[in-house]
Amino acid sequence: MHIIGIGTDITECPRIGRMIQDHGELFLRRVYTEREIDYCNSRKQSTEHFAGRWAAKEAVLKALGTGWIRGISWRDVEIRNNPSGAPLVLLHAGTRDIAESRGVRQVLVTISHCRTYATAYAVALAQENLPPIVPSHFDDDIPF
Ligand SMILES: CC(C)(COP(=O)(O)OP(=O)(O)OC[C@H]1O[C@@H](n2cnc3c(N)ncnc32)[C@H](O)[C@@H]1OP(=O)(O)O)[C@@H](O)C(=O)NCCC(=O)NCCS
Repeated sequence: MHIIGIGTDITECPRIGRMIQDHGELFLRRVYTEREIDYCNSRKQSTEHFAGRWAAKEAVLKALGTGWIRGISWRDVEIRNNPSGAPLVLLHAGTRDIAESRGVRQVLVTISHCRTYATAYAVALAQENLPPIVPSHFDDDIPF
């Protein structure tokens, strides 16, 4: 497999904390899956974990190369943690369709957070036999 896209995001934890405070369940259920909510709520500093997942979802969308477009919802990117705590990316519905159309087979993510900020960095991996979606060199045919 080879790297086909990368993405990163930085999120202010207090901002996520305010959204949870102001909009509660409505916000949580719009952005996070049931498992993500359970995971974050089981941690002492739950806001940091929610912010980490927000950053991870943004980073994954960047790595897929589209950003937020019609037909994608926040819950279409799900972050799970394996038994050792490492985050894993699951793609559902709209993001799964994008991944499939681009030959993306796997998305890796790493997350870090403190009281103030949460950051995430994602890498999209594609099958070896597909060409990269963006040329790796500049030529005059590129329309930007
Ligand atoms: C993984 C580890 C380096 C995280 O570092 P940290 O400075 O505490 O925390 P950070 O904010 O930088 O990172 C937290 C994120 O690391 C990720 N993470 C946790 N364990 C991980 C692992 N084994 N591999 C990769 N990433 C991991 C998670 O995504 C976590 O965020 P989340 O819980 O919201 O998903 C550290 O927790 C560790 O060494 N853990 C293994 C040993 C252990 O669990 N000790 C607990 C006390 S005995």
